[in-house]
Amino acid sequence: MVQKIKVWDGAVRFFHWTMVLLVAGLWYSGSEGYIALHQLLAYSLAALLLARIGWGIWGSQTAKFSQFAATPKAAVQYLRNSKPVIGHNPASSYMIFTLLSLLLLQIGSGLATFDNSYMSDGPLVALLPEAWVELASAIHKRNIDVILILVAVHIGFALWHSWRHDNVIKTLITGNTDRVNAPQLLFRKSWSFFVILAVLLATLYYWQGRPLLPLL
Ligand code: HEM
Ligand code: HEM
Repeated sequence: MVQKIKVWDGAVRFFHWTMVLLVAGLWYSGSEGYIALHQLLAYSLAALLLARIGWGIWGSQTAKFSQFAATPKAAVQYLRNSKPVIGHNPASSYMIFTLLSLLLLQIGSGLATFDNSYMSDGPLVALLPEAWVELASAIHKRNIDVILILVAVHIGFALWHSWRHDNVIKTLITGNTDRVNAPQLLFRKSWSFFVILAVLLATLYYWQGRPLLPLL
């Protein structure tokens, strides 16, 4: 019997689509030199990623990193013979961990990136040796290109998968899929994700965001 089953909780769906908007805004503001706005968006993304990492540990079954981490063998097998999977498939899990790590690297390097002004330099610029700042700034400029290439590949696979197999894009929007004999999944209420996110946002904005507001 075909039944509609829930795959993604509100936390994962909110995380994904908010991250997409923030990365687009960060790319635009960084490239166009709106650095105060850029840093405010970056602290928002940092809060979002940290909350998602927490949710990957204590969240719903399909959100847990331990549930979708896969061996390289499983990923290759999946690519050779892909069957519908509830949650992230073994191949996409590699892309997901890579994108999350590169976004964290972008944030980490951004904190030590130089902008020719003590007002809008990353907050670690004044604290680190010059060679480190130069390295971080170079990483910040190059790593975004790697992120954008991988995002293009990720979107390409999502479109291909949705066209050929099942509509994973719709599933990530609505949270539900239609499946035959789907397993029972365990869901945790998303409110703790949103509380942690709000606390992280408030802390980062109070700590780093306030001096940036007059520069907007
Ligand atoms: C800045 C751009 C993007 C980034 C950084 C990104 C990153 C990610 C990450 C980290 C996940 C895992 C979500 C989680 O478990 O919380 C994910 C999943 C997913 N993303 Fe994206 N994404 C981007 C854009 C898009 C776009 C534009 C689409 C649709 C056209 C898309 C389609 C999907 C789908 C379908 C999944 C679920 C994959 C699966 O079923 O295993 N992504 N993405
Ligand atoms: C707290 C985190 C971050 C801080 C403090 C930060 C800071 C900066 C600063 C100061 C610049 C100006 C560099 C220059 O004048 O040449 C810059 C550029 C840029 N940033 Fe960030 N950033 C952060 C996170 C991010 C993230 C998460 C992304 C993207 C996902 C990003 C993408 C960019 C881009 C595309 C540029 C333009 C690079 C270029 O000139 O070619 N940044 N950032």
